[in-house]
Amino acid sequence: MKILLINGSPRSDGNCNDALDIIEKEVLKHEKEAIITKLSLGDKVLLGCSQCDDCKTNGGNCTKDDDTCDIINKIYMADMVIISSPVYWWNVTGQLKTLIDKFYSKEDEFNEITKIIGYLTIGSADQDDDQYHFIKKQLQYFADGFDWDIAFNRSYTADAKGDLLKNKDVIEDIIGVVKRTFTK
Ligand SMILES: Cc1cc2nc3c(=O)[nH]c(=O)nc-3n(C[C@H](O)[C@H](O)[C@H](O)COP(=O)(O)O)c2cc1C
Repeated sequence: MKILLINGSPRSDGNCNDALDIIEKEVLKHEKEAIITKLSLGDKVLLGCSQCDDCKTNGGNCTKDDDTCDIINKIYMADMVIISSPVYWWNVTGQLKTLIDKFYSKEDEFNEITKIIGYLTIGSADQDDDQYHFIKKQLQYFADGFDWDIAFNRSYTADAKGDLLKNKDVIEDIIGVVKRTFTK
C-alpha cells in the first residue's frame, strides 16, 4: 500500500509534522509493507491555478514551473493520502488550498480512481470552536467530489511548536484513529 503524508503547514517542523510522524510510526505497526512518503508544502514552490486549461491538453499535468504537478502525480499514485493542516484564519493554509485547487488539472483522472483520505486539522483554538466544523465539512466535500473514502477527519488543539507532543490524550487519539483504520 502506497501512503502519501502531506504536511500543509508552512512550518515544516511544527505540530502537523509531529502528528504525521505519529501516524507514520503507527501505520507501520499494522501495514508492515506500507510504502510511506512524507512531504511538506512549506518546502515547495506552489503557484496558483489560473484556469489556463493547459493541463487539459497536457495529460492532466499543470504546465506552471512549480512543484504542484509533481505532488498531484504523487497523490494520483498513492492508495491513501493523509493531509494535516493548521488552521490559518479559520481555514486550511493557503499552501494547502493552492494544492487543492490544482486538483483541477487531474479532475477527470481523479474521478476514475478510488482513494482513501485522512484529514487532520490543528488549531490553537479549543475544540468547541466552529472553525473545526467548517473546515472538516469543506475537506469532506472535496473528497466526496471524487467519491473517495474518508478514513478519518479529526481536529486537535495545539499552538506552539511541540505542543501536540505534550498532550497525551491527543497522541492516544491519533494512534486510535490509525488502529481503527487499519484493523477494520
Ligand atoms: C497566520 C496564522 C493564522 C492562524 N489562524 C488561526 C485560526 O484562525 N484559528 C486557530 O485556532 N489557530 C490559528 N493559528 C494557530 C495555528 O493553527 C497553530 O499554531 C497550529 O498548531 C500550527 O500548526 P503547525 O505547528 O503545524 O504549523 C494561526 C497561526 C498563524 C501563523
